[in-house]
Amino acid sequence: VFRIAVLTGSTRQNRNSPAVASWVIDVAREIDAPAELVDLADQGLPLLDEPVPAALSDAYVHESTQRWGDLVSSYDAFVFVTPEYNHSLPGALKNALDLVYREWNDKVAGIVSYGLNGGVRAAEHLRLVCAELQVATVRTQVALSLFDDFDGMRDFAPKEHHRSILVRLLDEVWIWGHALQQVRLDRPHPAAGGGEQIVVVGAAPWKLRDALAVLDQAGFKPAGAVDRSEAIAAIETSDRLLALVLGGAVTSELEQELIAIAAPKGAAILHTAIGEADPTEHYTQHVLPQLEELRHQRGAKPE
Ligand SMILES: Cc1cc2nc3c(=O)[nH]c(=O)nc-3n(C[C@H](O)[C@H](O)[C@H](O)COP(=O)(O)O)c2cc1C
Repeated sequence: VFRIAVLTGSTRQNRNSPAVASWVIDVAREIDAPAELVDLADQGLPLLDEPVPAALSDAYVHESTQRWGDLVSSYDAFVFVTPEYNHSLPGALKNALDLVYREWNDKVAGIVSYGLNGGVRAAEHLRLVCAELQVATVRTQVALSLFDDFDGMRDFAPKEHHRSILVRLLDEVWIWGHALQQVRLDRPHPAAGGGEQIVVVGAAPWKLRDALAVLDQAGFKPAGAVDRSEAIAAIETSDRLLALVLGGAVTSELEQELIAIAAPKGAAILHTAIGEADPTEHYTQHVLPQLEELRHQRGAKPE
């Protein structure tokens, strides 16, 4: 299953975005692309009110954020329909993007912009924001002119050539979107939900990646963390923390700090240094047996 959300980027009265979004959906349906409307105005999103930035933790405090996160999670790809407000994207769209983080990661987006000059400055700003959210934006962009594509700047009547550009955009979204689905499958899940949770802290992300996959396959829920704040957030949000695994490059100062918050949660502290070894082999031979022994001692079952 592959789902594309066409998101309206404006919420004001008399806005043009619903008409543009509905054109995107019509063209998508003509070519059998599975596009659905997500109207920002219907979401009732508050101005960002979470105590912790979403990039650090997805243990949201507010039900509204969780609901929005679940909705974003349910899509593989997005078409952002954005006007240009003061040479940038509307605040409502930026707020919607800021509210959650992991839910956007490793997804794809296409941009349909409009404004006096095609909304291109808003689109460029939106691309920068998407980069930070780990959303890949496709090259092709539909840039609609308020003068040429809206009668009286109000009634949407796109010039014919925009249709073929939109089809190309959707094609690019489709191709990258499928590749990124695989990336998401390969990426270990952050510590959440069932399973014994493990927080692994080290200095080399590429080594952690392979190591976490080994733990994931064995039924643990590993959270990989490479810096201090990520590690602290991962430990604090874990509710079944089995172990804190500290890599060789972790400083003793950081180690003490992390142990101080992990130990009261009943987590075992494991030290391991991959060094020159193959990360997968190292974790399979040295870390996994210790974790399985711990799981056994505590009487937990693999999930
Ligand atoms: C607050 C505000 C700022 C705007 N700034 C720009 C701008 O910088 N460049 C531009 O081309 N159009 C600008 N416009 C015109 C909008 O692009 C145009 O009104 C468009 O229809 C707005 O999208 P919406 O109808 O979906 O809200 C601005 C409109 C608003 C409401």
